[in-house]
Amino acid sequence: MKATTPHVTVPGDKSIAHRALLLAALARGESRLRNVPAGLDVRSTQRALRALGIAIREEGDAIVVTGSGGALVAPDEPIDCGNSGTTIRLLTGLLATRGLTVTLDGDASLRARPMRRVAEPLAAFGVRIELAAGGTAPVVVHGNGDARGANVAIAVASAQIKSAVLLAALGAHGTTRLTGALATRDHTERLFGAFAIACEARGDALIVSGPQTPRATDLDVPGDVSSAAFLLAAAAAVPGARVVVAGVGLNPTRTAFFDVLRRFGADVEVEPAGSGPEPSGRVSVRGAALRAITVEPHEVPGLIDELPLVGVLGAFAHGTTVVSGAAELRVKESDRIETFAAAARSLGVEVETFADGFAVHGPARWRDGAIVTAGDHRIAMAFAVAARAAGVRVTLDDPDCVAVSFPGFADALEALE
Ligand code: S3P
Repeated sequence: MKATTPHVTVPGDKSIAHRALLLAALARGESRLRNVPAGLDVRSTQRALRALGIAIREEGDAIVVTGSGGALVAPDEPIDCGNSGTTIRLLTGLLATRGLTVTLDGDASLRARPMRRVAEPLAAFGVRIELAAGGTAPVVVHGNGDARGANVAIAVASAQIKSAVLLAALGAHGTTRLTGALATRDHTERLFGAFAIACEARGDALIVSGPQTPRATDLDVPGDVSSAAFLLAAAAAVPGARVVVAGVGLNPTRTAFFDVLRRFGADVEVEPAGSGPEPSGRVSVRGAALRAITVEPHEVPGLIDELPLVGVLGAFAHGTTVVSGAAELRVKESDRIETFAAAARSLGVEVETFADGFAVHGPARWRDGAIVTAGDHRIAMAFAVAARAAGVRVTLDDPDCVAVSFPGFADALEALE
């Protein structure tokens, strides 16, 4: 063990970057965004905004967005959102209250994901949204440029849906009141503050009065804590191993995984540093012999993207690790309950699946194997971490799928001590 552990960094936060780009596009004037991740998902948002007539350029280490004050042009062609659920759902909301017709589409995985969950609440704004027969993309948004503010109850605990409605509210005339399942990542609310948009939490509701035009601003995007989670888990699973990730986002709606790591038995230290609308700092993890944990349904929104890693760590832990209340995993980039279980089983891990979660019996007797990622970046990275920590050889059918969120992941994992 070296006396000092080198710090690693991770790409900028994908969730924050999508929102910063969208708000900068609606603002009047230039916004300078730093540490925007190079992953394909955020590129999909940039490509979409360019297609809507927004000028975006790279200048040194910044992405400079020249906002149009809300004026957008309808492209002739469908906009390709690639693999990015956040791009297609947030744009559906943004476009709902603008007077244009735009078609949003994506790759085969995105075309399999549910879009009614966003189309239905947006209907309150008088927008007409056409979906494919299965309630999926392509999504044709016939925006309502004369939309009125609305009362909208959010039924699914999804930050993408909440954010779609918040973005729609910016273009509507009058007060929009959101209620329901709002306890999800709050980046949109925080960035509203950074872009000088008034949004009030009143009791259990969020209130936005429209129309509002964001004020252009400069922003540093912190490192993506969901990307960091893979490196933290790689250390957690190996007794005595250590990793320090610097400059990572510490938004409390995203850090439930730290508590999960502690419950597994790893040592986790968090040192906040810096200021801004999104807290950030340094996280260090030291690995230990792990014990099984139970993840309760109320914890799920705070660690939705980390649940494949919870499964992997469960396979290193003594006892049965159980995750429930996580049916949302079935509609991510793949059905993450089934892709996780199939991959884990092919490497010797005992897993049971339920409609809303899974149980992993550990410690596993890991063996070499080949896994099917279903093109899902988080499955690919979770099992690369497993392979490293277990010392087995795992072949991924599609290692390149990690590029949507963490290009350079393989090197970052390799470089850990
Ligand atoms: C995201 C929210 C989550 C998450 C996704 C990004 C966001 O999805 O899984 O990776 O940026 O709002 P849901 O909000 O649908 O749970």
